[in-house]
Amino acid sequence: MKAVSELARSFNNYLTDYTFKLKPKSLNEPVEYIMGLGGKRIRPALVLAGYQLFKSDFEYANEAAMAVEVFHNFSLVHDDIMDEARLRRNEPTTHIHFNTNAAILSGDAMLILSYQLLEKYQNTNPELFHLFSKTAMEVCEGQAMDMDFERAKDVSIDEYVTMIGLKTSVLIACGMSMGAAIAGADKPLVDHLYAFGKNMGIAFQIQDDILDTFGKEAQVGKRIGGDILQKKKTYLYLKSLELLSEEQSARLRSLFNDFHEISEDDLINEVKSLYETAHVRIHAQELKLVYQQLALSHLDAVRQSGIDTSILKSFAEKLLDRDA
Ligand code: IPE
Ligand code: IPE
Ligand code: MG
Ligand code: MG
Ligand code: MG
Repeated sequence: MKAVSELARSFNNYLTDYTFKLKPKSLNEPVEYIMGLGGKRIRPALVLAGYQLFKSDFEYANEAAMAVEVFHNFSLVHDDIMDEARLRRNEPTTHIHFNTNAAILSGDAMLILSYQLLEKYQNTNPELFHLFSKTAMEVCEGQAMDMDFERAKDVSIDEYVTMIGLKTSVLIACGMSMGAAIAGADKPLVDHLYAFGKNMGIAFQIQDDILDTFGKEAQVGKRIGGDILQKKKTYLYLKSLELLSEEQSARLRSLFNDFHEISEDDLINEVKSLYETAHVRIHAQELKLVYQQLALSHLDAVRQSGIDTSILKSFAEKLLDRDA
């Protein structure tokens, strides 16, 4: 059995040999650009890993892995427009490198391409299309909530968890369970793998939010403090409001809701120092751990049915303890 990192490498080799054939060139180039920028490739690796739990010829799932990674990259191209982000994977975002119209249209084409990639499995696994469409719609719902929350004054922590469950986790869950389904795994195991991916995805997004504020730009590959500039209602923000004194949380609220004549860097630094005063990072790590453990309990259910899940267990532990 291959480690998830080896499966990610194998996927990268498949991707290197793959030719995107969209016409005209102006539609194809942004696709090649974003897909060629790298990234961790966790979603396609999880598709292959889910397959590998049940069957060894994991390359049969390459197209499904590609479908999920193309969808993910489509969502990033559009997300970077919505989040006004200029840097991704240490390079200019697609709409900055090309232009916004090109990024919108190539994103649309990638969404369609992701469905085309699944056609290989339509006779053996017709249910994949339903899962994929449901997932894609949920990602849109999550992204809509994420943007609504930028302007909303009162967002609860429950609403935040629901939002990240939709914008991020369902795709990880979909990828995780899809590989197993293609390999012919029984429904209860596919469902446990979905729940494993879903909870791991929630932990993963909490960590992404921590890194957005406290990470290092060179490692994260995105502008640090971007979430603060966009007034994202992350757990860091919401929990800080609970933890800070009345005066401090009023200031934090005001920094997010009122116009202040301060530079972007000063805004980021002041919010960051309020987060530090609240020691909110420790609380965020704790919440992350809750979902990580929930994820592992579903993986354990799979293990109890006689499947060797050790590769996924060590992957989950490594993934959720990263600084990039
Ligand atoms: C970024 O996903 C968007 C989130 C859902 C947090 P990744 O952190 O997996 O991005 P890449 O693909 O490795 O660049
Ligand atoms: C991304 O969330 C979720 C989707 C792309 C659907 P973020 O906005 O936090 O992702 P990054 O931080 O830009 O990668
Ligand atoms: Mg976003
Ligand atoms: Mg973003
Ligand atoms: Mg983020």
